[in-house]
Amino acid sequence: MTVHQDLRTSTFTADVAPRGAATTEEHGTAAEWWRSAVIYQIYPRSFSDSTGDGIGDLPGITARLGELHGLGVDAIWLSPFMTSPQKDAGYDVADYCDVDPIFGTLADFDTLLARAHEFGIRVIVDLVPNHSSDQHEWFRQALATAPGSPERARYIFRDGSGAQGEEPPNNWQSIFGGPAWTRITEPDGTPGQWYLHLFDSSQPDFDWSKDEVKEEFRRILRFWLDRGVDGFRVDVAHGLVKDQDFPDYTPDVDAASMGGEETPAPYFEQTEVHEVYRDWRLVLEEYEGDRALCGEAWVSSVEKAALWVRPDEMHQTFNFQYLETPWDAGQLRGVIDDSLHAFNSVGAPSTWVLSNHDVVRHATRLSLTGENPQGSGIGPDHPGLPDRQTGLARARAATALMLALPGSSYIYQGEELGLDEVHDLPDAARQDPTWFRTAGERFGRDGCRVPLPWVADADTFGFTAGGTPWLPQPERWKSLARDVQRVDPDSTLNLYRRMLALRAEHDLGLGQLRWLPGNEGSVLMFANQDVTVLANTGTQPVALPAEHDVLLATAALKGAEVPADCTVWLRRHAG
Ligand code: NOJ
Repeated sequence: MTVHQDLRTSTFTADVAPRGAATTEEHGTAAEWWRSAVIYQIYPRSFSDSTGDGIGDLPGITARLGELHGLGVDAIWLSPFMTSPQKDAGYDVADYCDVDPIFGTLADFDTLLARAHEFGIRVIVDLVPNHSSDQHEWFRQALATAPGSPERARYIFRDGSGAQGEEPPNNWQSIFGGPAWTRITEPDGTPGQWYLHLFDSSQPDFDWSKDEVKEEFRRILRFWLDRGVDGFRVDVAHGLVKDQDFPDYTPDVDAASMGGEETPAPYFEQTEVHEVYRDWRLVLEEYEGDRALCGEAWVSSVEKAALWVRPDEMHQTFNFQYLETPWDAGQLRGVIDDSLHAFNSVGAPSTWVLSNHDVVRHATRLSLTGENPQGSGIGPDHPGLPDRQTGLARARAATALMLALPGSSYIYQGEELGLDEVHDLPDAARQDPTWFRTAGERFGRDGCRVPLPWVADADTFGFTAGGTPWLPQPERWKSLARDVQRVDPDSTLNLYRRMLALRAEHDLGLGQLRWLPGNEGSVLMFANQDVTVLANTGTQPVALPAEHDVLLATAALKGAEVPADCTVWLRRHAG
């Protein structure tokens, strides 16, 4: 048993053995930890604020690492905390090798890393190679020099079309809405060239055909590897290389907004992008300690996703097909089979994920009845809102299904509290560039980024010492605050802790899935190691299998029945 002292709130005593994260001595020696790791995504702005400015920071994270150790995670992934004007919440980086003052200092990062490693928690940092901030030194130099200069060549500048170059070079649209090209004024004051930005105009795309760009990112990788990070989550990993003909392209509006179309856009999934990751793999292999790369590639199938984790490329890639699958047994069966098959075929683990900082939280998403395109968010009038009871029941059941699958799972901060999407943010509070670039037509992602509730009875639920949270927290989160959930045996927090402890005890991450009789209709049923898992996605209760003990249930069982929207983990009686 381990006792952890929370530095700013109450004492937390772990009453189940912490999850099998490596101890200090084991750190760095466990082979291929990323094959089975449970990785907890921290969105630093919204995790915990130690300075009182209303924005979370690195010391705030360090102070809470004991909580995450008690929860039982193997690793944390930190969304970007590097120097940035924060036009896209840090995914617009001005200096890749320093910490933004709102998050702290490099020394704070080193302290965080050392403390995490003492807990046996590995640390993955976010790398944003597709684009920089327009405040990056290189982009400033590009603007200050003439067309054709080596400084400009690091980005994608083109002359405009039309008689005076007054039209964009092609018709590409930004993922966040509006044109993907912005025209500059040349240093001599004349209307000038256009630069490409797949996202906000403050995020100019690098030109990855240039050796200088490649060398700079090797340097950045080594900078963080030298400091001791365990890996990188790679932003827009499918986007770095563009079709050099820059053909016009009209996306299928019905397809996922971050990519994911059957025929890839000319700025996504270009074959040459894989060379970048083969090169990076060699850089990681210069280092001891099993460092890992995880790609964020929104592609249209798990077969395509598997291309990012061939043996000489990345170690993991996000399984967004799984995230996008509704709470439906047939569809879940299909995506689980397809994923295991596709990733096994290249010798990589499948990953699983239900929530992150770009999508509607799954405690809300799984009860929605309307369309919910990725990245668009939801507003106050979305169909299916608010059915929090169904959403939370499904979220708990869906997470129990996910964490029983072999491979590596990602969880997003706050889902262990059962947090719902804050669909009712006031318009004036919204900050996502998607909201501004679409004139409010798409709500964007702020609703899943609201600062965490730690203490029910404290101002700002203990998120910030004295400040105003950068996004307002809903009053309804009082009952979901961590301190309340710690002492409630049936809370979602304690469910997550039990799941992670049992997952470690039974080594589910390294097991094999075997479908069992009973896996039909709205019921998923399989064995992994010595655990039998049954998920009821239907509307009617189903019978508990005979001769099993219940290890865990995501809802109260009624006699020998598993209710609707419930997952159970069972163990067959011995003999
Ligand atoms: C994907 C990130 O997850 C998202 O938050 C960001 O806005 C875009 N990439 C652009 O960097």
